[in-house]
Amino acid sequence: MDLKGRDFLKLLDFTTEEITYLVDLAAELKEKKKKGILVDGLRGKNVALIFEKTSTRTRCSFEVAAHDLGMGTTYLDPSSSQIGKKESIADTARVLASMYDGIEYRGYGQDIVEELAKYSKVPVWNGLTNEFHPTQMLADLLTIREHFGKVEGIKLTYMGDARYNMGNSWMVTCAKMGMHFTACTTPKYFPDPALVEECKKIAATTGATITLTDSVEEGTKGADVIYTDVWVSMGEPDEVWSERIEELSPYQVNKAVMDNAGEQAIFLHCLPAFHDLKTTIGQEIEKKFGISEMEVTDEVFESAQSLVFEEAENRMHTIKAVMAATLGYNG
Ligand code: CP
Ligand code: NVA
Repeated sequence: MDLKGRDFLKLLDFTTEEITYLVDLAAELKEKKKKGILVDGLRGKNVALIFEKTSTRTRCSFEVAAHDLGMGTTYLDPSSSQIGKKESIADTARVLASMYDGIEYRGYGQDIVEELAKYSKVPVWNGLTNEFHPTQMLADLLTIREHFGKVEGIKLTYMGDARYNMGNSWMVTCAKMGMHFTACTTPKYFPDPALVEECKKIAATTGATITLTDSVEEGTKGADVIYTDVWVSMGEPDEVWSERIEELSPYQVNKAVMDNAGEQAIFLHCLPAFHDLKTTIGQEIEKKFGISEMEVTDEVFESAQSLVFEEAENRMHTIKAVMAATLGYNG
């Protein structure tokens, strides 16, 4: 499998075999890291990390993975570069590609990361856009595979805001990997109909299924993975909180949902999650709306079925695999 020189913008651009290869490579790199075996064959290379939105996991994963591989990093935060304000994406791409071997971008529209890739002669990696979060998908696939021993045939139910980056990404991933995807939410939050159609076509070739339902009882029954994400994503206005809480509260992941899924079910969440009052936003929401938990209850988040911290660790190993493969590391 040769992915050298490829961009990593969304999983729609990759075959089932290529995605599997990246997860395999991540597992190999994880094992080597645990055994203390250095894999630093990309010494002398440098990568630029552009973040127009905040991050803990993605930024740290790119930095640690790059350093493990022997590479240097430059972190560009939302306020410390000219991007988009004084300099276009096309110009930025050509400048950075002349100095760096790869560019990570986290920001707003998918069109921005696609434009960056169009004008960059070095690989561009999507660290999250409004539409997709592909590096998260690889971490989640690795986590699911470590737990169930496979991904094909696994039933994944996505609850809450299924029309944003995480819901879209999961529908695409399930279609590509022969998994059974259910969006369980109120129809307003179902993924974009055009993307649903595209995914159904892919699903017809892989054995995957795509289901959209507003019934919690039916949508979560027998699911292997219950997945959710925040109800208000980065970049969305504060004014939407009240309608999101009202419309998405019936789709909160709580003990009744996990019990309905069954004892085989695991809980995953890309994080950060609102499950207690230990954050400023959590406290503000409690003051305003009188609730102390949102998309997931603390009980489920802290339960034995929750693998969210294993999942978070896997961000680093899978991001390492993406950089290694696209920069030409051959094992
Ligand atoms: N899951 C995820 O992307 O986390 P960060 O926003 O902390 O990078
Ligand atoms: N949907 C969330 C994902 C965070 C990793 C957001 O875009 O803020």
